[in-house]
Amino acid sequence: MKITAPKGTQDILPEESAIWRAVEATIRGVFLDYGYREIRTPIFEQTELFARGIGETTDIVEKEMYTFTDMGGRSMTLRPEGTASIVRAYLEHNLAARGGTSKLFYLGPMFRQEKPQAGRFRQFHQFGVEALGEDSPLIDGEIIALAIEVYRRMGLEALEVRLNSVGCPACRRSYREALIDALSPYASSMCESCNRRLKTNPLRVLDCKSPVCQGVTAQAPTIDTYLCTDCKSHFTAVTDYLNAVGIHYQWDPRLVRGLDYYSKTVFEIIYGGLGAQNAVCGGGRYDGLVQEVGGPPTPGIGFAAGMERLIMTLQKQEKLPVQGDGPQIFLAILGEGVRTNAFQLAQTLRQAGLRTEIEFKGRSLKAQMKTADKLGVTWVAILGEDELTRQSVLMRRMADGTQEEVPFDQLVTYIRAKN
Ligand code: HAM
Repeated sequence: MKITAPKGTQDILPEESAIWRAVEATIRGVFLDYGYREIRTPIFEQTELFARGIGETTDIVEKEMYTFTDMGGRSMTLRPEGTASIVRAYLEHNLAARGGTSKLFYLGPMFRQEKPQAGRFRQFHQFGVEALGEDSPLIDGEIIALAIEVYRRMGLEALEVRLNSVGCPACRRSYREALIDALSPYASSMCESCNRRLKTNPLRVLDCKSPVCQGVTAQAPTIDTYLCTDCKSHFTAVTDYLNAVGIHYQWDPRLVRGLDYYSKTVFEIIYGGLGAQNAVCGGGRYDGLVQEVGGPPTPGIGFAAGMERLIMTLQKQEKLPVQGDGPQIFLAILGEGVRTNAFQLAQTLRQAGLRTEIEFKGRSLKAQMKTADKLGVTWVAILGEDELTRQSVLMRRMADGTQEEVPFDQLVTYIRAKN
């Protein structure tokens, strides 16, 4: 049987990897500009963390987690998202004691056993931020502005921000009841999952993609009229901050998000060109999560964005960064006798930080030139017996075919000056 990568996972091959590194460098740059610092947490955690954090009745916890029992009989889960882990780390290391707001960012793989399709994977990568300890709506504005800046800095256009408030537990309770009252008469026509959600998590019905359920929810009340004074003024302040920095957003009163920890602000960034899986980024405030995970009442807000969907968007808009990380120099040899000297020369070039590839075999110069061409190098350095006697190498510039003999001891300076 042929062994292949598991369904829903993918290999990132060298050319693509170079693009990922360039994109990640831009992301890290933006995060640092906004005052966020990197945190790295384990790939797996105790299952209990996600069950408590994300919510027992969410799709993720109900059916998408990669859960296993370790040798000590403990239930572990590959992280399906980053927020719960960051909150756990924040409490475990008492980051609150450092004072101020903890502003953290992360990049890395996440795992969800979803049905794979374009833009949806079982192992995917997120980049995101979490800010803990701040309840000012200014940080909601900061986080949304930061997410948009990542895409702007990469030259992307036509992204839409959808914004809503899901209120606090107090105002959500009355909305929940109103929603159940409005939807229940249509329960028999709604899909099986929504019938279940109607009892366990009625707000999730608003997120259903089935046309029948969407038809039913289109008539249902929206949360805005149920928001309490505090939630209303918080939301207005967030929109004022976004307006102040010229960020366009669309208020979507039916945006609820798929994780249970949200309160007040929620948002998504959409790129329509991606088809069904068009959310490139999602996030919001989660003022109850730290307590849920066992800590003191602490406000929090953050977002996470999909790397694969970002790269797909860059591809669609022809904005992929050009990132050559292949060799710059190919060291060709003429004659077996110079191989060791060529190896020494390659070592000098590599130690000087010049990406160098060397001929391993001793094929004809024509064959070696063909390899150099394929590698896309700028230079071919040719070393034969004659050059060796003169302690020099013949440098051929691939772009125009011009050649110049350069002494060994001037080679690094020569390449640096001409590159
Ligand atoms: P989420 O909406 O589940 O939120 O995921 C955020 C983003 O991750 C999505 O918008 C999408 O771009 C990407 N994503 C999610 N699932 C997949 C998948 N199966 N394949 C490819 N990409 C995917 C969260 O994860 C929250 N932790 C966000 C957050 C942080 N809220 C507050 N802080």
